[in-house]
Amino acid sequence: MQISPSILSADFANLEAELGRISNADWAHVDVMDAHFVPNLTLGLPVVEALLAVSPIPIDAHLMIEDPDRWAPAYAEAGCQSVTFHVEAAREPRELARTLRAAGARASMALKPGTAFAPYEDLLPDLDMVLVMTVEPGFGGQSFMADQMPKVRQVREAVRRHGGEIWIQVDGGVSADTIEQCAEAGADVFVAGSAVYGAEDAAVAVDELRALALTHRH
Ligand code: DX5
Ligand code: ZN
Repeated sequence: MQISPSILSADFANLEAELGRISNADWAHVDVMDAHFVPNLTLGLPVVEALLAVSPIPIDAHLMIEDPDRWAPAYAEAGCQSVTFHVEAAREPRELARTLRAAGARASMALKPGTAFAPYEDLLPDLDMVLVMTVEPGFGGQSFMADQMPKVRQVREAVRRHGGEIWIQVDGGVSADTIEQCAEAGADVFVAGSAVYGAEDAAVAVDELRALALTHRH
C-alpha cells in the first residue's frame, strides 16, 4: 500500500520545500499536462529534472500529454522511477512501455474514466502499473468517481490471472473518505493531491491515508 501525493496541489513557487513536507510518502506524483490532451498546462521536463535533483523520494510522473511515444522516454531517461502515459494518446503503447523499461523506469498505462480496460489487457506483460483515473484528468480537487471501482476490480482480476507484480494506481478525489473503497477494489498505489497538500500537516495525512488503505486491503 503506497501513497503518492500529487504536487499539483502544492505551492508551485516552493516545490523543494513542498517535497520535503511529504518525505514519508512512497512517491511524489508529478502531473505533466500539455494543454492539448487535457485543458490545462502545468510543467514539463526541465522542471521535472529540477525536482529529481532535490526530491527525497522517487518521482511518479503522470504524463497527460499528446504523443507520449515521442515525449515520455525522456522522463525515464532523466531518472523518473515511474512513468505513466495515457493509452488514449499512445500510438504504439507496447513499444512505448518497453522503451520506458529499457530506460530504467517502471512503465505505467493510464485509463481515463471513459476508457475500457479490456482492449488493453494484453499489454500487461509489458507494464508495471495500471492507473485507473477516478476523475477526468486535468485538474486537482474534483469529486471522486466511485463508478470506476468495477474497472479497478477488473484490472485486479486480470493482474491476478496474469501473475507478476503489477501495481494498480487510482488518481483523483482520493481522500480519507474514498480511499477504503479503492483499497477494497484492489488498488495498491494511491494518488492524493488536495487531501495531502490541503491538510495542515501533509506528512500526517500521508500516514493516515496509508493506514486506512492497509486496513481495507483487498
Ligand atoms: C488530475 C491529476 C491528479 C490530481 C489529483 O488530472 O492527475 O493527480 O492532482 O488531485 P486530487 O487528489 O485533489 O483529486
Ligand atoms: Zn495525476
